[in-house]
Amino acid sequence: MRIIKFALTLMAVAVGSVAMAQTANVDERVEELLSKMTLEEKIGQMNQLSGGYQFTDMIREGKVGSILNIVDPVEINAVQRVAVEESRLGIPLLVSRDVIHGFRTIFPIPIGMAATFDPAIVEQGARVSAIEATASGVRWTFSPMLDIARDPRWGRVAEGSGEDPYLDVQMGVAMVKGYQGEDFTDPTSMAACIKHFVGYGAAEGGRDYNTTMISERALRNTYFPAFKACVDAGALTLMTSFNDVDGIPSTGNDWLLQDILREEWGFDGMVVTDWNSSGEMIAHGFAEDLKDATAISINAGVDMDMMSWGYIQYVKQLVEEGRISMETIDNAVRNILRLKFRLGLFENPYVDETLARKVAYAPEHLAAAKQCAVESIILIQNNNNVLPLKGVETILVTGPMADAPYDQLGTWAFDGEEQHTVTPLTALRKDYNVIYEPVLAYSRDDNTANIKAAKKAAKKADAIVVCVGEEAILSGEAHSLSNLNLQGAQSELIAAMKATGKPVVVVVIAGRPLTIERDLAECDAMLYAFHPGTMGGEAIADLITGREVPSGKLPMTFLRDAGQAPFYYNHPMTGRPNNGTETLLNDIPLKAGQTSLGCTSYYLDTGYGPLFPFGYGLSYTTFEYSNITLDKSVLNKSDYIHIDFDLTNTGDYEATEVVQIYVRDLVGSVVRPVKELKGFMRVTLKPGETKHLMYDLPVSDLAFWNRDMEYVVEPGEFQLWVAGDSASGEAITFEVR
Ligand code: BGC
Repeated sequence: MRIIKFALTLMAVAVGSVAMAQTANVDERVEELLSKMTLEEKIGQMNQLSGGYQFTDMIREGKVGSILNIVDPVEINAVQRVAVEESRLGIPLLVSRDVIHGFRTIFPIPIGMAATFDPAIVEQGARVSAIEATASGVRWTFSPMLDIARDPRWGRVAEGSGEDPYLDVQMGVAMVKGYQGEDFTDPTSMAACIKHFVGYGAAEGGRDYNTTMISERALRNTYFPAFKACVDAGALTLMTSFNDVDGIPSTGNDWLLQDILREEWGFDGMVVTDWNSSGEMIAHGFAEDLKDATAISINAGVDMDMMSWGYIQYVKQLVEEGRISMETIDNAVRNILRLKFRLGLFENPYVDETLARKVAYAPEHLAAAKQCAVESIILIQNNNNVLPLKGVETILVTGPMADAPYDQLGTWAFDGEEQHTVTPLTALRKDYNVIYEPVLAYSRDDNTANIKAAKKAAKKADAIVVCVGEEAILSGEAHSLSNLNLQGAQSELIAAMKATGKPVVVVVIAGRPLTIERDLAECDAMLYAFHPGTMGGEAIADLITGREVPSGKLPMTFLRDAGQAPFYYNHPMTGRPNNGTETLLNDIPLKAGQTSLGCTSYYLDTGYGPLFPFGYGLSYTTFEYSNITLDKSVLNKSDYIHIDFDLTNTGDYEATEVVQIYVRDLVGSVVRPVKELKGFMRVTLKPGETKHLMYDLPVSDLAFWNRDMEYVVEPGEFQLWVAGDSASGEAITFEVR
């Protein structure tokens, strides 16, 4: 009884103060609240824990600022009620979750979203995620992951936009806008968290959590741009990364978190550690113990601790010992409270407990997920135009990914439900007479006993669709691989199907670019779907039947062999580039002289090139680029490069081309990349149609961090390409003065 009365009094106080504060701006409200807080309450705000009910007492005592990993609206409301109505100051909790590519309605994994080259559909995907997740009471997601990834052995390539900084910027900004919406206080607005700051994707050898060695210039030119762009787009929070860069773990890197993030970029959002990344500085050998790690991370500029438990245990002591100043604590708490006020949590702490189930899988959410999946799938090979499968009645569907509703959702799909997933098998049954022989139970299965049955069934089929790839668990965090061939007996299955003489369409459903060269030789056509989510099966069926035409493009270079990694199109120019002579292993005469091989930069077994370049992807039609011109060949730094060109659909299908614009800076004060993506556009054309297109590229977009570590456009000659991938097209030259 006493507690209830106390709570009611507090509520009255809280309501009164809310009314008063509504007119004040956020910063005034922050200061007002901060002035009332004890040190313990401040420390509590800086503490994030995983769970709900079990922390009720701590929440009541003001020892928890945020929770993660509960999604039941009843539980969320219950713990929120404790925070708002039973803690001394009634500060609401911020509830968070890894909503990475959808909440209930699962979109393609982020690398698949990047393959759409369509920021609009990606923004829509993030909006759908926000609508579904906030309906449960989740107002903060740990997405987008902006880590540039150039090594497909790293399992987390699944979670990012691939290898290119420009594409990373476009996708990251689209996600931030989609999650956060127009107005943060809108109950469907979910704070984005740009992660992992920074360089996590550069883990040596593609081994997760491994060390990185990235120069400041490379950070600025390659790894920072998407973070900076998302800060400019208003991203509300940022997560530090697990890795060290040149010996400094990000969670203890004051240069990153203060000099760059706060001072250079003016970030006024909130910084959170990755899961126990503060505590892991002990294992790094960068902190003596948890207390030391806590001091290091707070002094470096981390506001909130995710799951090291160090803040709640040691901050008070550290303040008393003078190792952390009160000013540092106050600033961290300001950042946290500012976020909570911005999200309108004080006004709207609770959620309608019936809403989540009403909005999940809304028809328009499923439609957007399907559209995104269609656009994300890449046509890798289409010999003799086997696809779309027309005039075909009976198909054999085989392979472990044909009916794997859980696995096609991909990594970090915590809240997606497999019973809502449409698999390729289910979808294809609507279009064809389907014989189904899975042969392999899961992607790692190497039991080939059932291949016989599939071969027999193939006799009755007009064509074969083989769905192979990776189970969800083979990519994502902590799932690095050193061999990127199809697992288990999947390649044997493909080859056995080819031996039947029937047309073979392979659909790869995977979390990363795999090394598929040998499989390409054993099939007629291949579609590559990065785990495509809830509606993946329908998207695949639409592409196989020709109701939709593929338009996805590779956001990462595809390798012949994992030994080529890291391999990315925009690498710095070498002093011994491709000179057109490639002496491969079998070309080498016996006892050849040491210097007789050309001495250029390639592998004796795989040559100069990758299997497929960044930006690659076929269509059921063909496109022709012509009349590419620039309005000026000499430009000033303040000009726009006005590009004119014609694009013609020279085939039989209405289709969309992703036009890509690449630039090369021929001479720089530091070695420059061989090519850099500077723009793209999706253009839809009817068969035979030609469109005259224009693109204005600001010369200022050619700037980079030069030898003096200044962000400038260096005058000189440049080349420009307008093409359908990073390895095609004719260069046009221009000069900047
Ligand atoms: C991951 C983060 C994720 C966090 C919370 C960590 O293991 O690295 O990306 O947001 O867990 O689940």
